[in-house]
Amino acid sequence: MKITIEPAEKIRGRIKVPGDKSISHRALLFSALTENNVEIEGLLKAEDTLSTQNCLAELGVEFKENGSKLLVKGKGLRGLEEPKDVLNAGNSGTTARLLAGLLAGQPFHSTLSGDSSLRGRPMQRVTEPLRLMGASINGRNNGCLLPLSIRGYDLLPINYALPVASAQVKSALLIAGLFSRGVSEIIDSYNTRDHTERALRYLGASINKPGKYHIRLEGPAKLYGERFRIPGDISAAAYFIVAAALAPQGELYIENVGINPTRTGILDVLIKMGAKVRILNEKEYNCEPAADLLIEGGRQLRGIEINGEMIPRLIDEIPILAVAALFAEGETIIRGAAELRIKESDRLKAMALELQKMGARVQELPDGLVIRGGAKLTGARCESHGDHRIAMALATAALFAEKESVISGAEVVRISFPGFFEVLSELST
Ligand code: S3P
Repeated sequence: MKITIEPAEKIRGRIKVPGDKSISHRALLFSALTENNVEIEGLLKAEDTLSTQNCLAELGVEFKENGSKLLVKGKGLRGLEEPKDVLNAGNSGTTARLLAGLLAGQPFHSTLSGDSSLRGRPMQRVTEPLRLMGASINGRNNGCLLPLSIRGYDLLPINYALPVASAQVKSALLIAGLFSRGVSEIIDSYNTRDHTERALRYLGASINKPGKYHIRLEGPAKLYGERFRIPGDISAAAYFIVAAALAPQGELYIENVGINPTRTGILDVLIKMGAKVRILNEKEYNCEPAADLLIEGGRQLRGIEINGEMIPRLIDEIPILAVAALFAEGETIIRGAAELRIKESDRLKAMALELQKMGARVQELPDGLVIRGGAKLTGARCESHGDHRIAMALATAALFAEKESVISGAEVVRISFPGFFEVLSELST
């Protein structure tokens, strides 16, 4: 699908964004492991979360829609069934890696695969520690790539320092730790998103954080809970937050967005760059903080350096931050983000290439980008690289080009935000 984006003067309105993708995956997976029935409200309905739901259904979990809510019949820790077919994680790295942790604890055989992008993404980061816990895992390239064939056994607890800053790997090990007998200790590398830890705490698992990066979980766990309420996804809101901050005029109100501190790097950086963002009506559900956001346009942004501990707090927002940086005064330098090369696409390469087509001055570094601000963007014909976040970032940049732009492969937004273009056109005039 090709989409045409016209330049906009104003971003104005009041919106809600879809449910948080990371929390939705975890709500589905952990609800399935509870001893009771769980009602999920605000679940993201998009391809990635549907992949998790379908895989769980293959493992015998029953779901029932009830209006806008989803009811999940918990199977307990030991109630899953051997799947009759290959589990298909589609495009979703979170589904594949979290499920690998779950399957490692099951007394049966399963095969896990995904689409061509996911089949090229590294899995050794989960298979290596899961093997240390006692799971038997085979796959292409000695278990580094999907499809993976997994046969779980009684797992041993693990004591493991993460070699890469990855919430998916940390979560896979915590999930496997639920099935083992004893205490697992995981040392995070920086503070990656902690939705797994919060969900497990909410469901009554014995999990705590004895040190800044140190997580301790006691297995086996019995999980109980009645409902999950999922706040809006800050990673989905990010495109509109940047659009509103860059617009010469207008004001945007976004209701009920998750503001977990491991995810709010985008707000901290934009505020530092000079954007006017206010956080209102703070609340909390199932151990996850949320709030409304108010963004005003018409401010001149300044370039910034982003690296180190900040990177995991905005890992999925780097494409849209690169767009914000194009219109800032001075240079923006992003470093320490080599992980972006192994996401749904090589996001550093994709953003540099596509923004250059619009006339931007962006240089690729091995682990980041250098973006020269003060750009005058021309309209261009761009390509999503099959990556939802690239499509949404380019569409946002196109709002501020001199002429219309066309983005091909735009249907990929269905991975995380099926109604993205409708909301964008509603807001922009
Ligand atoms: C996610 C973790 C991050 C992030 C991804 C979602 C999660 O990936 O980029 O979109 O839900 O745990 P990594 O664990 O590879 O950093």
